[in-house]
Amino acid sequence: MKTILLIGIGSGNPEQITVQAVNALNRADVFFILDKGYANDDLLRLRRDICERYIEGDAYRLIQVEDPQREENPQSYGAGIETWHQQRAVLFERLISDEMTEGQVAAFLIWGDPSLYDSTLRILQRVLERGTEVFDYQVIPGITSVQALAAQHRIGLNRIGEPIQITTGRRMAQQQPDEINNVVVMLDAHCRFESLANSDLHIYWGAYLGTPDEILISGPLKEVSAEIKRVREAARREKGWIMDTYLLRRPY
Ligand SMILES: C[S@@+](CC[C@H](N)C(=O)[O-])C[C@H]1O[C@@H](n2cnc3c(N)ncnc32)[C@H](O)[C@@H]1O
Repeated sequence: MKTILLIGIGSGNPEQITVQAVNALNRADVFFILDKGYANDDLLRLRRDICERYIEGDAYRLIQVEDPQREENPQSYGAGIETWHQQRAVLFERLISDEMTEGQVAAFLIWGDPSLYDSTLRILQRVLERGTEVFDYQVIPGITSVQALAAQHRIGLNRIGEPIQITTGRRMAQQQPDEINNVVVMLDAHCRFESLANSDLHIYWGAYLGTPDEILISGPLKEVSAEIKRVREAARREKGWIMDTYLLRRPY
């Protein structure tokens, strides 16, 4: 039986790798590295560095393939995702069929944790449903960018007994402002926090968390919203990409 490992590698700091992940890295015969065509090679380099740093010996292969691009203006958000997932399923199936022999272990290095806003698990399940390839798969958890954000700002994700919501920028923008009490926002390319700049919310914002370029800003949204927007735009322009996450919290 072929085995696929989904290894969470943390969200930028190569020291945020678990012992379980290191052991998993050392089991793999081949790594499938998806080139997302952005991020100025930084994210690809981090994955290669992790392999060189933690794998004993060099008896492994790295297969780098171009990740299918998402349609720019699909008919609907759902239709766009469906097409993209289907293309990725076809790609994964080809990798498993052409690049692995019976009994071999392959690994995907997943940014952060495989369970949080990552479609690799869903796509592998889709490949199995297609019925052409048979394989086992295992998930090795990693440190998410949400945990990295809380650690770097030295805050808890929730106050006593309080729920915490994790959502995307797109979904957060659809919520009523008074529903937002303690929310982590990811995947926000449009600084949606700006529309709440007149509220009494606090923001804890972090970009490039865990990397040498990390930026942290926190404070009342009223006071720091414009600064975050400016710093974010300058950093994105300079590096060519940005990944940022933030927590919005209503003070008691
Ligand atoms: C596709 S999701 C992947 C999340 C990942 N699986 C995790 O566990 O953190 C990408 C989003 O995660 C967040 N993110 C990932 N790495 C980050 C980092 N180093 N600094 C800030 N945000 C990050 C950003 O909100 C980004 O838009």
